[in-house]
Amino acid sequence: MKRREFSKLLALLACPWPAGALAQAGDADWSTQFAQALEEFPWLAAWGNIDRDRYASDAAVSGRWPEELRGTLYRTGPAGHEVFGYRNHHWFDGDGMMHAYRIGGGGVRHEARLVETAKLKAERAAGRALYPGLAAAPPGAAGLTGPDDLNLANTSVLHHHGRLLALWEAGSPYEIDPDDLSTVGPYSFAEPGGGLSMRGVPFSAHPRVDADGSVWNFGYASAAGLLVFWHIGADGSLRNAGRVAVDPMTMPHDFVVTERHLVLLLPPFHYRPQANATGFLNMHQWRPEDPCRVLVVDKNDLSSHFFLELPAQWVFHFGNAWEDSAGVIRFDAARAPDPSIMTETFTEIMRGNPDYGRAARHHAYRLDTRARTISEEAMLEPEIFTEFPSIDPRVSCRQYRKLVFLSQNESSPAEHGTLNEVNLFDIESGRRDWFRYPDTQIPEEHLYVPRPGSEPESEGWILGSVFDWRQGKQVLNLFDAERVADGPVAAAELPYAIPLGLHGKFVRG
Ligand SMILES: [Fe+2]
Repeated sequence: MKRREFSKLLALLACPWPAGALAQAGDADWSTQFAQALEEFPWLAAWGNIDRDRYASDAAVSGRWPEELRGTLYRTGPAGHEVFGYRNHHWFDGDGMMHAYRIGGGGVRHEARLVETAKLKAERAAGRALYPGLAAAPPGAAGLTGPDDLNLANTSVLHHHGRLLALWEAGSPYEIDPDDLSTVGPYSFAEPGGGLSMRGVPFSAHPRVDADGSVWNFGYASAAGLLVFWHIGADGSLRNAGRVAVDPMTMPHDFVVTERHLVLLLPPFHYRPQANATGFLNMHQWRPEDPCRVLVVDKNDLSSHFFLELPAQWVFHFGNAWEDSAGVIRFDAARAPDPSIMTETFTEIMRGNPDYGRAARHHAYRLDTRARTISEEAMLEPEIFTEFPSIDPRVSCRQYRKLVFLSQNESSPAEHGTLNEVNLFDIESGRRDWFRYPDTQIPEEHLYVPRPGSEPESEGWILGSVFDWRQGKQVLNLFDAERVADGPVAAAELPYAIPLGLHGKFVRG
């Protein structure tokens, strides 16, 4: 993109938020409803509230933490679910908390700290909830000047060129000090030499790290009707930007990158703002009769793209993608029939009404960029629900065969009703090696951590935490990736539990 065009794009994105269009929540007290439900369903504590701004403790370790596994698992997630007595109406509206599990020398130390976003500081100064969320707005909600007013830094983590960033979906990354987890502030990628910068623009929560160490990401600007693409060099500078007009806009959460293309699924969850909407989600309409558009963008020319179509579906997360020499792309996704888990489940659970709705099943996709066709098929038995796919980071955007994900078998659900298994799935052989957690534990995202010096996808561990609702503890578990069914080979137990988070990254060191 030429410099003048980029400058124009930044101007278009400067205020993409539909200011003043949100009605206030008129519901009864959600805090009271949630507290009552907690007595009947104690595992709802996983969606409870934090009781302090910072946590720190050495963990009680058991099993064998390998000497070669040294580094930090950084994770973020919505954690501050109540603001001066106002309970958020959506799981994703919680103020972000950054975690660091520091692993080495046979021990594990955990620290966590609320991200001091502009929103958090403004609400603490005002002594009340000020800003609208996905599903509702608090009484007397403030007007908006741009997306960063609402930035929660609560969704995912990027560690790039020495910087630790907490990501949201619709605004700037937040830079976090990797040592003490203090908040540096909103971070703007900029052109080399400090030229044009991406201040206050949408930067989604799932950037993809390419084989050359550069980073691809997208963002959606609903009011501007634009999808934007960012390419950040391995040196941390903005290398290129592009845009595609999308009408109607939707809410893509993740995407995939191959050797030659960027691929997004655009579900028919159409942006149609109305004056009486009670939250950003309610500015959208689910239209299952419309197709799920598939956008394919040329990495080498971000202005070159085409659309394909799939049946209506909703996808939060993809595992990975790759493209062969004939231009055929293969990728995988946790595919739900509709967005009800976001629009209903994650709202209702905040007032203590557990109803997990229509969950995702893992699918494999085959996209032929020359014939311009796409097809999909289920990867697992129909009773297996999946989420939080991850890969060996060394095969990101390249050919892969192993996936880590969480799952639930519909025919034998846990008492808490949500995900309860961790898996290593071999795409080529179809072998699923899995472990079922006790019903007293709810797993969070688990990641593949390669053994240093090993060949990609050959040797490694699976690292992930669980929320133990009966003991009120978080436990970090380590599996041998080749023997998942044997259960954890090591564990690190914390003396406290923090509400369920979302995504993280393991940083060797
Ligand atoms: Fe995500």
